[in-house]
Amino acid sequence: MRYGWYPAKLKLWGTALETAMSLTEPHSVPAVMQSSPTSTSSLKVTIPTLLEKKRNHAPISALTAYDYAMARLVDEASIDLVLVGDSLGMVMLGLESTLAVTMDEMLLFTRAVRRGVCRALLAADMPYASYHIDVIEGVRNALRFVKEAGAEAVKVEGGRNRVELVQRLTDAEIPVIGHIGLTPQSLHRMGGYRVQGKTLPAAELLVEDALALEAAGAALLVLEGVPREVAAKITAELTIPTIGIGAGPECDGQILVLHDLLNLTFVPAAKFVRRYADAATLMRNAVENYRKDVETRSFPNDAESYHLSVETRDNFGRIPTRQPRKA
Ligand code: KIV
Repeated sequence: MRYGWYPAKLKLWGTALETAMSLTEPHSVPAVMQSSPTSTSSLKVTIPTLLEKKRNHAPISALTAYDYAMARLVDEASIDLVLVGDSLGMVMLGLESTLAVTMDEMLLFTRAVRRGVCRALLAADMPYASYHIDVIEGVRNALRFVKEAGAEAVKVEGGRNRVELVQRLTDAEIPVIGHIGLTPQSLHRMGGYRVQGKTLPAAELLVEDALALEAAGAALLVLEGVPREVAAKITAELTIPTIGIGAGPECDGQILVLHDLLNLTFVPAAKFVRRYADAATLMRNAVENYRKDVETRSFPNDAESYHLSVETRDNFGRIPTRQPRKA
């Protein structure tokens, strides 16, 4: 059997998969995965792993990633869940919102991330309009993420209005991550990116949404931009894990957009973002230094150049220099 997405000797449900990825330089199994075969961090993360984490009150780490290099770094840092978010429209494509992101774009980025991820659970975001027309089309598009891009789960935004879709996707063996609260695909209905569930009726509706999604079969639930107290209540009432973003510390796990964490967004950070590094400054300095070295001819130096053998160089030096051709 060929498991095209996974690198060699990946432990999946205890079975070693002896396969190679079709990359020039295959993704070797990170040291963390070669350590103790009994440590949970060395095993492939699955939906049951995340459910067990919730039962054991072990926090779940999640991040977005959009390309091969970033996905590898995130996976090698033992993040549990990697989401190819439709936020890529804004942070990778420079769009104003996520609304214009297409299925083809999501599939392209998901395939790239698939090649870089071997330990984490890989989820893909279903873009706006890929599941809004009818449920059948939603299932068909979700299947493409699994079959064509190697996703292990899909994420859909919405609450009670997504119950039928979540049931149908679950019937089709596709784990579903629900997403409620501040749902960026509802930008126009919400009238901006606003914290949701701030009034008593709105908070109660969010709890109902969460319960409805769990009952429909959702495997996980992202809570975005909701008051800490509401997220804590939802987390306590659900048996499936909640993953918060701007939803306080009581969620079962946390997710951030990788570019927010690295300061690669060119906009001020939202209140809930913690910047762990300033990659913008690092990269800008590196590129400026490169330009200066090129302009001062200090790059490349002799050690960064290829050379002829001594014999060939001597013979080459005897070839008379031709006059430059006239234009
Ligand atoms: O698109 C995205 O990156 C997301 C996360 C912020 C949850 O939906």
